[in-house]
Amino acid sequence: TRYKVGYLIGSLAAGSINRKLARALIRLAPEGLEFHEISFKDLPLYSYDYDSNYPPVAQAFKGAIAASDAILFVTPEYNRSIPGGLKNAIDWASRPYGTNAFTRKPSAVIGTSPGSIGTAVAQQSLRSVLSFCNSPQMNAPEAYIHFTPGLITDDGEVTVASTKEFLRNYMAEFHAFIGRVLTVLPRQAG
Ligand code: FNR
Repeated sequence: TRYKVGYLIGSLAAGSINRKLARALIRLAPEGLEFHEISFKDLPLYSYDYDSNYPPVAQAFKGAIAASDAILFVTPEYNRSIPGGLKNAIDWASRPYGTNAFTRKPSAVIGTSPGSIGTAVAQQSLRSVLSFCNSPQMNAPEAYIHFTPGLITDDGEVTVASTKEFLRNYMAEFHAFIGRVLTVLPRQAG
């Protein structure tokens, strides 16, 4: 079965290593996954003052999540948590109350850092947020990618064979996980 995966890259940096990781994951993913990026860079800072009149950019953002079968988060770690822009985006998607776009939406979390723990603390933080948002998360495999110079080329070629196989397996597991979740939970109307 084919599933539509919307992916969010936590970094807005032009040279983002997490964007390189996302490109690699797309290249290594099984046939049954198709991808579209869900950008959050144009969202204003959320306030509940917007709840009575959600701006079109936020409606489109929520619509892109709703239209996805699953969400993949590829994020750096900033100060031992997720970047503020990503948290802001999740807050937008979760509101107005009762219209949380993440509820029952399968997700997975991955990230890379030059630091040796490879975004582990940010991922724990993100997992708490997604739990509250009622997103069923892939628990295993976990993936904490320690980025070293040249590990992934700009166009997403992984240069270390063992890492390449690890990431290929991660995406195969994600495909299987989405299938399991959609078997027990009805697909959400777009
Ligand atoms: C970082 N970086 C970082 N790395 C890490 O492993 N743990 C951390 O807590 C932080 N904190 C942090 C805060 C801020 C504000 C910045 C800008 C950076 C380093 C970070 O991993 C590195 O800049 C990566 O290149 C970020 O990923 P992208 O943006 O290149 O995808």
